[in-house]
Amino acid sequence: MAEPFTVAICGCGSRGLDAYAPFQTAHPERMKIVAGADPRPERLEKLRALYGVAPEMCFASDEQMLSQPRLADAVIIATMDRTHVKNALAALERGYDVLLEKPISPDLAECLALREKARQTGRRVLVCHVLRYTRFYAALHQLVSRGEIGRPVTIEASENVAWWHFAHSFVRGNWRRQDEASPMLLQKCCHDMDILRWLAGRRCLQVQSFGSLDFFRPENAPAGAAERCCDCPAREGCLYDAGRLYFTDPHCGLEAIGPQWPVDVVVTDPTPEKLRAALKTGPYGRCVFRCDNDVADHQTVNLLFEGGLTASFTVSAFTETCHRTIKLTGTQGEIRGDMEENTLVLRPFGRKEQVFDLKEQAGEFSGHGGGDFGLLHSFFDLLASGDTQGLTGIEASVESHVMALAAERSRIQGGRTVTLEELEKEALAQMS
Ligand SMILES: NC(=O)c1ccc[n+]([C@@H]2O[C@H](COP(=O)([O-])OP(=O)(O)OC[C@H]3O[C@@H](n4cnc5c(N)ncnc54)[C@H](O)[C@@H]3O)[C@@H](O)[C@H]2O)c1
Repeated sequence: MAEPFTVAICGCGSRGLDAYAPFQTAHPERMKIVAGADPRPERLEKLRALYGVAPEMCFASDEQMLSQPRLADAVIIATMDRTHVKNALAALERGYDVLLEKPISPDLAECLALREKARQTGRRVLVCHVLRYTRFYAALHQLVSRGEIGRPVTIEASENVAWWHFAHSFVRGNWRRQDEASPMLLQKCCHDMDILRWLAGRRCLQVQSFGSLDFFRPENAPAGAAERCCDCPAREGCLYDAGRLYFTDPHCGLEAIGPQWPVDVVVTDPTPEKLRAALKTGPYGRCVFRCDNDVADHQTVNLLFEGGLTASFTVSAFTETCHRTIKLTGTQGEIRGDMEENTLVLRPFGRKEQVFDLKEQAGEFSGHGGGDFGLLHSFFDLLASGDTQGLTGIEASVESHVMALAAERSRIQGGRTVTLEELEKEALAQMS
């Protein structure tokens, strides 16, 4: 039997340690973690305890690990958005193949520089656009590319972030500020841009977008609200009271869901005592109307693709559930899909409707509708093959980033139509 591929994990947070590392337990024949880097000692301790990584192979920073001679076949880069390219360039220099968390970078010139480096080194950079690896989108893509609706003409898609998820990640959490992370559309929806591009099967040419930070602002705070929920006289009846959310809310409360995401982001290995202390002093106990957040809480994008195909996409914080929906129309039929229900409905014009229930094929797959483990399987298939790109290689993935960054420019400029060529030319000029 072939030996498993060895990996080093750069950034042992929610993605590195909680989403990807468990693949070793499920598939020890495919992946063995041999090194890891993270400044938080408790994360490295978990890496040692759960996955048997040797203490001398646990590093306190990306730089310490990536300055060693190559330690593994591949590196999984799951640090925060603005260090991805720096880490990936260093890893390619050291001779690693790379599994890279999205977004590649909020700076398009950096995305292009990484693409150039991958071309020069001939190494693989697979971007974690996990949706392509889900049964839902794989089946949808198959129907479209088989010509079941003829030539696609329009796509309508939406991402429903869910109010509590948005407050956790984009108001109190890591992705609340553009200067520390990315614009919300790039951060949350580069996946959706990637799916639109994949389903369209053609290049996107122009985009136009509107959106803003509408609700999570100081003027919307209840009268007399305090800076932190634990001191707040208005907490009773406030939907976003951190004590209620992280203790009892059915979506994200410790008592309801146990010590898992998102409550384990508030504090590692949460207990009621640790959680209470974290909410008293940490970022997740802050009033959602008095944080230092600046990313949009809703946004709509219109897109024009080659050949006249048009698409519209809406992302909103203000939804009850956390899921995506999509509708495609083509010259011969239409398809509707709902990722929460995990169903696709194909309506070929003049013929009988067909319903595809993808729940029936669920199997072992859970994280991101099966995308997390599907991605890892594909990454190791790619390493075993002579191919360099795979389904979400750097070449394809840069396109979704140009789309998202062009849409963000349009939003900031009041909805001006922006060509993708405009952004690409600027980024190339910056590089030369
Ligand atoms: N593919 C997806 O669907 C998906 C989903 C969620 C997040 N993400 C992306 O994954 C990345 C990580 O997100 P997360 O939720 O795991 O965040 P996280 O904060 O839980 O993890 C980041 C980790 O990096 C560590 N870190 C910080 N500085 C470091 C350094 N110098 N060297 C090494 N490690 C360092 C942090 O301590 C932390 O443990 C983000 O860029 C995010 O956009 C992708």
